[in-house]
Amino acid sequence: MLRNAKVLVADDEKNGRRMLQILLNRLGCEVLVAADGEEALEIIHTNTVNLLITDLNMPKMDGLALLSALRQEGSELPVIVVTAYGTVETAVEAMKQGAADFIMRPLDIEQIEMVVNHALESYRLKQENLFLRDQLDRHGWDEFIGQSSRMHGIYELIRQVAPTKASVFIAGETGTGKELVARAIHRNSGRQGLFVPINCAALPTSMLESELFGYIRGAFTGAIKDRIGKFEYAHQGTLFLDEITEMHPEIQAKLLRVLQENTIERLGSNHSLVVDIRFIAATNRNPRQAVADKLLREDVFYRLNVINVDLPPLRDRQDDILLLANNFVETYRKQMGYRELQLSTAACEILTAYNWPGNVRELKNIMERAVVLSRGAKIAEEHLPQEIFFENPQERKIAIENQDCAEGLEDCISDLEIRMINRALQNADGNKAKAARGLKISERTLWYKLKKYKINSIEE
Ligand SMILES: Nc1ncnc2c1ncn2[C@@H]1O[C@H](COP(=O)(O)OP(=O)(O)OP(=O)(O)O)[C@@H](O)[C@H]1O
Ligand SMILES: [Mg+2]
Repeated sequence: MLRNAKVLVADDEKNGRRMLQILLNRLGCEVLVAADGEEALEIIHTNTVNLLITDLNMPKMDGLALLSALRQEGSELPVIVVTAYGTVETAVEAMKQGAADFIMRPLDIEQIEMVVNHALESYRLKQENLFLRDQLDRHGWDEFIGQSSRMHGIYELIRQVAPTKASVFIAGETGTGKELVARAIHRNSGRQGLFVPINCAALPTSMLESELFGYIRGAFTGAIKDRIGKFEYAHQGTLFLDEITEMHPEIQAKLLRVLQENTIERLGSNHSLVVDIRFIAATNRNPRQAVADKLLREDVFYRLNVINVDLPPLRDRQDDILLLANNFVETYRKQMGYRELQLSTAACEILTAYNWPGNVRELKNIMERAVVLSRGAKIAEEHLPQEIFFENPQERKIAIENQDCAEGLEDCISDLEIRMINRALQNADGNKAKAARGLKISERTLWYKLKKYKINSIEE
C-alpha cells in the first residue's frame, strides 16, 4: 500500500520536512513538500496526492486551517497531523475536524509506517465502497424506468426467475432494453461468477467459435498460446448470447452440446471441462419465425426458452414515453450543468405521437441531442429532429392548437419567445448583438430575456 503512494508533507521547518521525506522515501512513498498551508493547498489542487502529513504551526495557513479548507471544498484526502510531545489536545481537535490520525515528535519510523499505512488503507476501502455503491446504483433496479403495467410484469418476472438457473430467452425490438433485463437477471441471481455478454452477430463464424470455446496453443495457425473462451469466463456466472439468431447453425449445434452436457472442450483439446453457466439469449427477431426460417435451431430454441421474456415496444407503453423522456432530460441536464430544464407541451405532444421504431435507445439519443440544443432553456419543437414530427400536418396543427389551450397565454408566449430566441442565436452562431438585430430588439432586451428564461447562449 505504501509503495508508490504520493504523500505531501507540509511543514515550515526545513529540517522537519527533510526528516519526514527521508523516512517516507525509505518506506517507498513518493514525497512532495510544501512550506505552508497555502502552498500545500496549491499542490493538492494541481497533483494527485494520496495523503497529506501536515505540521500544525505554520505561517500563512496553519495545519488546522488547511484541514478545514480541504474539507470545505469537499476533499476527502486523508490528513495526518504532526504534533509536538505534550500537545495531544491539539491533535484531538484535529481528529475532530476530520484528520485521519496524528504522529508525535520525535519521529519514529515504525510509528510513521503504521499510521500512514492505516490511513491509506482506510481511505482505499472507503473509495472502494463508494465505487461499489455507485455501481450498484447504476446497475440496480433504479436503472429501469417505466411504470406501465407491461413493465411491472417484466420486473416481477425478473425477480422470480433471477435466483433460479433456468435459461432465459429475451425477445424484443431493437432498443427495448434486452441487455438491461439480462444484466438485471444476473445481478439478482446471487451467482458468484461474471456476466459475460457476447454478440453473435459481431464476429465471423470461425472467430465466434474460438471466442466461445477458447483454444489451446497450436490449435490453428496463429494460436500461439492457450486462450480461455467465453464459456469458461462465464463459469458460475451468466453467459448472454446476444443476437443468437445470427449464430451460424454449425455453432448452434456445438452450443446445443454445451447446453445438454454442461461440458466444453477448448479448440484443439480433447480434455473436457465441466462448466456451470446460466444462459440468457436475446434476439430482436420474432423467435418462432426465426425457427421457421431456419435461422435458429429448434432444439436450441427450446433449450434456451425455458423462461421467455417478451419486451414490449415503446409505442405499446404510451404511459412510459414521457416518464422516460423526463428522466433522460434530467440525466443529461445534470451532465451539462444546466439548472432546470423542462419539456414544452408541444415537444411532449410530438414525443407521444411518434411511433419509436428504435424504442428506448432512440428516445434516449433524441433527448440527449435536445438537451444540448436547448442550451438550458425549455425544450421546444425545434430541439427535436424533424423526422419524428407528425407525418400528417393536420395532426400537428391540432396538437399545436391543443397546446395553446392547455398552456394558457403567458406560457404560450414564453414558449414562442424561447423558440425564436434560440433560433436567432443559432442563426447568429451565438453572437448576441447579431441575434438581437435579427429579432429586431435591443441587445439589452435580449440580455434581459436570456436571463429570464435562463438561456445559456454560447459566446462568440
Ligand atoms: N426501461 C428502461 N429504462 C431506462 N433505460 C432503458 C430502458 N430500456 C432501455 N433503456 C436504455 O436504452 C438503451 C438500449 O437498451 P438495451 O441495450 O438494453 O436494448 P436492446 O434491446 O439490447 O437493444 P438492441 O437489440 O439494439 O441490442 C440503453 O441505453 C438502456 O439503458
Ligand atoms: Mg442489445
